[in-house]
Amino acid sequence: MIPNPGLPDRGLDTNTASFHIPIMNLTGMRAVVFGGTSGIGLAVVDQLAAEGVDVLAASRTATDRNKPEEQASRHSVDVLDREDLSKFYEDHGPFDIMVNTAVPSSRAQGPFAEMTLDGFQATFDKLWGYVNSVRLGLTSLNTNASIVLVSGFPAKKCLPGASAISTVGNAIEGFVRAIAPEISPRRINAVSPGIIDTPLFPQEGVAREEFLQQTTEAHPVPRPGTSAEVAQAVLFLLKNDFTTGTVVDVDGGATLP
Ligand SMILES: NC(=O)c1ccc[n+]([C@@H]2O[C@H](COP(=O)([O-])OP(=O)(O)OC[C@H]3O[C@@H](n4cnc5c(N)ncnc54)[C@H](OP(=O)(O)O)[C@@H]3O)[C@@H](O)[C@H]2O)c1
Repeated sequence: MIPNPGLPDRGLDTNTASFHIPIMNLTGMRAVVFGGTSGIGLAVVDQLAAEGVDVLAASRTATDRNKPEEQASRHSVDVLDREDLSKFYEDHGPFDIMVNTAVPSSRAQGPFAEMTLDGFQATFDKLWGYVNSVRLGLTSLNTNASIVLVSGFPAKKCLPGASAISTVGNAIEGFVRAIAPEISPRRINAVSPGIIDTPLFPQEGVAREEFLQQTTEAHPVPRPGTSAEVAQAVLFLLKNDFTTGTVVDVDGGATLP
């Protein structure tokens, strides 16, 4: 292979690259995954650990200790508590990778005309958690660090009752595009999941199966996605050094007409 002199030294493994496709080797990097104790975040933690990344899973209820059966260390932090978050970065940084999948429970759903404005506003907690984690983390994220946030398919295709969630998803995607040039050479991207079978949905048993089936049966891929499938897209964005300010849909075609 002819080396590409334009490629910066950012961990790109040009020896293993074929057809001039540079592969980012994540082994030995340090990562934090906010929301990494459940659902999509937990799958990201598992996949990063499998790549040899030193990964910290952080959420409000995580206890500050390692469980022998777990590949990552867990730490307690609330991304909405700026003091707590700053101290977390001070204590545990620097990082090469930051992924934030945290979603506070304050999501308002239902007809817009009946939604309380407090509920609509509280749905933005997800955005503030993401903004906090990027802004307060900047000095703890290495120059070539890569960030991935999570929006959601209602950003592109809003179903009735999801106006607040849709608006927040669009804000997250806009945030990613807005700050990508400013924080360069660090990179920032987002994934946009469809309906994914995670603990975000509280239903159990048959009610859960029915909910997941009914909400996905009209999609081109008529099933809920898995956390691992979304995590795979997160890892793609972390490894692909030519992506920034972009959004990858992992939604089984949910946003198609
Ligand atoms: N599942 C879906 O169908 C779907 C669809 C579209 C988009 N998404 C998006 O995908 C992302 C991940 O969702 P998920 O389904 O994996 O959710 P999940 O299984 O409910 O996991 C959410 C995680 O966020 C953490 N968290 C919540 N509030 C936090 C806070 N203030 N500070 C730190 N951590 C906090 C939770 O842990 P603690 O409770 O311990 O804090 C948990 O680890 C979210 O952005 C969600 O909106 C999901």
